[in-house]
Formats: sequence, C-alpha cells, structure tokens
Amino acid sequence: MKFFADTAEIDDIKELAATGLLDGVTTNPSLIAKSGRDFMEVTKEICGIVDGPVSAEVVALDHAGMMREAEVLRKIADNVCIKVPLTIEGLKTCKALTADGTMVNVTLCFSANQALLAAKAGATFVSPFVGRHDDNGFDGMDLISDIRLIYDNYAFETEILVASIRHGVHVLQAAKIGADVMTAPPAVIKGLFKHVLTEKGIEGFLADWAKTGQSI
Ligand code: E4P
Repeated sequence: MKFFADTAEIDDIKELAATGLLDGVTTNPSLIAKSGRDFMEVTKEICGIVDGPVSAEVVALDHAGMMREAEVLRKIADNVCIKVPLTIEGLKTCKALTADGTMVNVTLCFSANQALLAAKAGATFVSPFVGRHDDNGFDGMDLISDIRLIYDNYAFETEILVASIRHGVHVLQAAKIGADVMTAPPAVIKGLFKHVLTEKGIEGFLADWAKTGQSI
C-alpha cells in the first residue's frame, strides 16, 4: 500500500520523505489555508520534495473553470495530480484531463456508486473519506470493501486512495481490504512506527549491553 501524507506542512513532509516511505502528498483548500502559505509556492515546494503524486485541488465548480485552473496547476511540476470533486462537472474534467495523460484524484467520494463513476471517468485515484463517513454514522471501511469488490469485478485501474484517515486502525483495515493508497495526517503516520514493547525492548537491550562493557 502506498503512503501519502495529507498535509501542506513542509517540515512534516521533509521528515516523512527522509524515511524513504513516503509515496506522495495530498492537499486540499483547508490544508493550504492552515499552512498560511501561497498555494502555488507551497505546491511547487512539495513537488520538489517528493517524487510521487502531489494532489492540488481545483476550486471552480464548472468544467470550464476547472480546466482553466488545472491548466495553471499542472504547469507547477510533472508530479502534480489534479484533484477534482465528485460531481458531474468534476468527472467531465477528470475524463478530459486523464485522456491527455494528466493524473487526476477524484475527491469527496462517499458512495460505491460514486466510485464506480470515477473509475468510468478514468480517474487515476478515487478518494473515499472514511473518517467523515464514520462521523456521520456510516462505516467508512464498508465503503472501501465495496469499492475494492467493484473495481476488481471489472479490473478498473483507478487506485483506491483511502482519505480522511484518523488513526492507525483505519490504516490497518485499509491494508487488509487491499486499498492501493492511504493518505493520513503526519501525526498518524508517525504513530505507526511506535509500539510500547519496541521502546521497552530497546531499553532492556541497551541496559544489558552496557553490562557487557563492549562497544561496536
Ligand atoms: C484527502 O485528500 C483529504 O485531504 C483529507 O483526507 C480530508 O480529511 P479530513 O476529513 O480529516 O479533513
């Protein structure tokens, strides 16, 4: 499963990229606002840090406007992935952009039928929001299972990008279902490295090593 960081914070992206485990980045207008940075500048900077796809979201609601904004965004770098909402206008834009080789992430997916439409529109990625789904009384992971089943039934190449991840259990469940990608806040990704028994084990080994009086 590919790991994307869901953030526009440069320091976090650099720290995760240094692990060699970061495959891409997703941003959205809220994350850009939180960063306090200029959209174009920060997106360019992120594209220079990671080799993989960096999602940059359009804000126009009509096809012509989305195409105009996508034209600006895709000039930032070769690894920019245009993010469009799961609407009729968004899917028209997805079809047009992917037809000429541009990566597209169809975002704000909340049903398996919407994911089916995104795949038919040729989306590179579809982003089902599991956390927001859970918040509203649905089971976000049931949605991921349904999309996996449908995509496998028809051998769709659209990658399932599990978004709105809130904790490590979401990551584990997404991996067990066979999602292609997960995008999570840096704190959630950093939390995956931790286990109390790993820390305790290191502590014990170091204490015993000190008793030997040896060095490597
Ligand atoms: C995905 O691309 C979105 O940016 C993101 O995962 C939304 O997560 P949230 O529900 O925590 O805002």
